[in-house]
Amino acid sequence: MISTSLTRIARATALAVALGSVGVAGGANAAGNSGNGDMKGQIDVLNWWTSGSESKAMGVLKQMLAQKGIKMNNDAVSGGGGGNARTVLKSRIQSHNMPGMAQIKGPKIQQWCKTGFIGSLDNVAKSDNWSKKLAPRINKNLKCNGKYVAVPFDIHRINWLWINRSLMKKANAPIPQSWDQLVNDLGKLKSAGITPIAGGGDTWQVGTEFDALVASVGDAQFYRKAFVDLDSSALSSKTMVKAFKRLRVIEKYTDSNGSGLSWNHDTGMVVNGKAAMQIMGDWAKGAITNDGATPGKKVACIALPGTQNAYIYNVDTFEAFKVNSKSKQKAQNIFAKTVMEPQFQRQFNKVKGSIPVNEKVSLKGFDQCAHKSSEAYHKAKKNDDLVPSMSQDMAEVGAVKGAIFDVVAKFYNSPNMTAQEAAKTLASRVKQADQMSKL
Ligand code: BGC
Repeated sequence: MISTSLTRIARATALAVALGSVGVAGGANAAGNSGNGDMKGQIDVLNWWTSGSESKAMGVLKQMLAQKGIKMNNDAVSGGGGGNARTVLKSRIQSHNMPGMAQIKGPKIQQWCKTGFIGSLDNVAKSDNWSKKLAPRINKNLKCNGKYVAVPFDIHRINWLWINRSLMKKANAPIPQSWDQLVNDLGKLKSAGITPIAGGGDTWQVGTEFDALVASVGDAQFYRKAFVDLDSSALSSKTMVKAFKRLRVIEKYTDSNGSGLSWNHDTGMVVNGKAAMQIMGDWAKGAITNDGATPGKKVACIALPGTQNAYIYNVDTFEAFKVNSKSKQKAQNIFAKTVMEPQFQRQFNKVKGSIPVNEKVSLKGFDQCAHKSSEAYHKAKKNDDLVPSMSQDMAEVGAVKGAIFDVVAKFYNSPNMTAQEAAKTLASRVKQADQMSKL
């Protein structure tokens, strides 16, 4: 008992010293943190991590920050993919209720920068040598006018297929190695009375499936031409027509009662033997673990057939907003520092389903799907096959992504719309959205 309290006192003292060294001025009241017990600073963190595994992953951060005297207010807004969270962010800004950090990804980091609402993480990023710990293309994305404004958490791969092994056995369907085998399996599953695919719950989920399907028909160069360069001929090409045709196949084999259901509900269906497969980024792996299954065992993880060499990446990043006190700025810096630390990177990414973004962190103790992801990532990096995810806002600005999603959703929900029509519409809608976003 006594030794425990002494340890606690020692810890509290160490904490006070540590915070003193980062210069938290004036104690809790000056920081405007009265009512937070012995917390020395606080930070509002806007995000869309509300599923079981996602909240647990945020819990890791909350706890680590608390140990450093920072109270993290987890302002999580539900909705996979973050559409709702982005709306809330804008309305908070309008009502002068800025968060300290907000989940913002890809080119949006630079777009936000232009608003003048963005703070800086430059000191902590430079003193902690982020540039030596991150892949160059990830590192570059975090900066605005040469200064760091955002901190990365993880690397997720999008082009995964999650498969319930025992349902496959029941239907006498092998784990598919090619698109044709996959289609064959889907037929077998259906004939055996098993729901082949869980999905189709909302536009974001269908957009995520389409993202992986595009990588299954074209190589990295094609993907970039279509979704990064927004090249009309790629968007309306035969290859894109093929991707839409594949989406039609997936739609036909998808749970017909799936509309309105969340991605993690669908992952639960695969874990619990209610559906055989799900096409989803590896946050699904976090949900599998959270549901008590071991990824790779009960539920197999394979690259969506046709995408073995592809790595569509998604890096969750949090951008700093301008804050109005020194203590809040310190809290921001401690937040950013903690996120890049090996201890956090390991614990968080295990729960989240992703791999550490800090390349110096070991994967020891991670599940076999994380190892697969890491191998695929390094291979793709070497061969220049890494592509930023269209569906997760890594490739283009919001208006363009919205136009792509509109066309994909329209096609998915209109059985009579042909793949040719869809690809043609895609090219013209993207062109329009791109022009509008430059006005
Ligand atoms: C985010 C993931 C998240 C997923 C579902 C993606 O856009 O990048 O971190 O788990 O949405 O909410």
